Amino acid sequence: TGYITLDPGYKNSGSCTSKITFLDGELGILRYRGYSIEDLAEKADFLEVSYLLIFGELPTAEQLEQFENDIRKHTLVNEEMKNIIDGFPRTAHPMGVLAALTSALTAFNPKSVNVDNEKEMYHAVCKTMGKFLVIATWTYRKSMGYPLNYYDNTKGYVENFMRLMFELPTEPYKANPVVIEALDKLFILHADHEQNCSTSTVRMVGSSHAGLFASISSGVSALWGPLHGGANQAVLEMLEEINNNGGDTDAYLAKAKDKNDPFRLMGFGHRVYKNFDPRAKIIKKAAKEVLETLGVEDPILEIAKKLEAAALEDEYFKSRNLYPNVDFYSGIIYRALGIPTDMFTVMFAIGRLPGWIAQWKEMRENKEPIGRPRQIYTGSPLREFKK
Ligand code: CMC
Repeated sequence: TGYITLDPGYKNSGSCTSKITFLDGELGILRYRGYSIEDLAEKADFLEVSYLLIFGELPTAEQLEQFENDIRKHTLVNEEMKNIIDGFPRTAHPMGVLAALTSALTAFNPKSVNVDNEKEMYHAVCKTMGKFLVIATWTYRKSMGYPLNYYDNTKGYVENFMRLMFELPTEPYKANPVVIEALDKLFILHADHEQNCSTSTVRMVGSSHAGLFASISSGVSALWGPLHGGANQAVLEMLEEINNNGGDTDAYLAKAKDKNDPFRLMGFGHRVYKNFDPRAKIIKKAAKEVLETLGVEDPILEIAKKLEAAALEDEYFKSRNLYPNVDFYSGIIYRALGIPTDMFTVMFAIGRLPGWIAQWKEMRENKEPIGRPRQIYTGSPLREFKK
């Protein structure tokens, strides 16, 4: 074992070189392909940012139109996929259903596994962007027992998401520009975050030359955990619980600090950011604006602010550099937009999709070797097998 460096959780190990996302945890800097997250969230739209992440440059107007059109062409999902959806109980968590459906796409689109040239890669990218959005909304439709909706080619990608989710045969969906803009921003802020757990999973699975759908499906599963993307659902459930218990934030802080209690303050702390999470700053401001514009008064926002202020003053959180992360305020916006709590992590997955695709594509283009970490064996020495 002399040559093996042990680094549980890969806290200090780089797994690849990458040109996609720059992150400085000390200074709270996040950039996609050199563009600051603040600029992109303010000025770009989600498909533009997706193109930037995946292909390396911001698209021209023509390239963007072409990209949108090519995604539209791939938004039909094989009708037989509905048989799979029918097999799930309505109570199934949407993330579990999403992982299964994404994986199943491989069976219905076997050719998209081949990405031997640029054309095939482009095709696989557009297929994934198109079909994933639709099946993500189908997980919700299933849970509600509603008929499944199809993509409307006259509408944009983010607006389609809301339509696919909420349009009913008896009630056409009317887009509110404030809602679409807020969602667009949230998707951009989630779009990539270098070698986080789900992205590393996508790269690792893809390194065996598994196809794009199979790799993305593994990313969905990795994202689901409460220490990663699942935190956004956990944050809202925590805030609701505090609210229902009379708003006693101090009791929850005490619980989070108690080393005999496994409870953690959800939406706080980050492996890399040790000063602040730049995404959380933007989202906190957006949450306030969205609630004001939509005229929503939510006691949960006040609880979140109170909890944040108390934690930032607390020695335990200060000494460990624990700050609110991207998941702390995002759920408050989702809730104001009418997104159900168990769909929050699916929202994260839709936002993260271009990042996963970009990282998978880069891994293939860099011709990275199969991911295969070593270990230090701590089990039993040789034992004699006796019958
Ligand atoms: N509440 C209470 N204590 C915490 C928290 C928290 N949220 N986060 C970290 N700590 C403590 C931890 O107990 C440890 O204390 P000690 O040094 O006394 O043992 C210290 O801070 C360092 O924590 P760690 O677990 O070694 O740090 P990590 O880099 O392995 O974990 C983390 C990072 C994000 C998993 C962790 O901070 C956490 O569990 N946060 C809550 C879940 C969450 O909000 N996740 C979303 C992350 S951001 C978006 C995403 O990735 O999806």
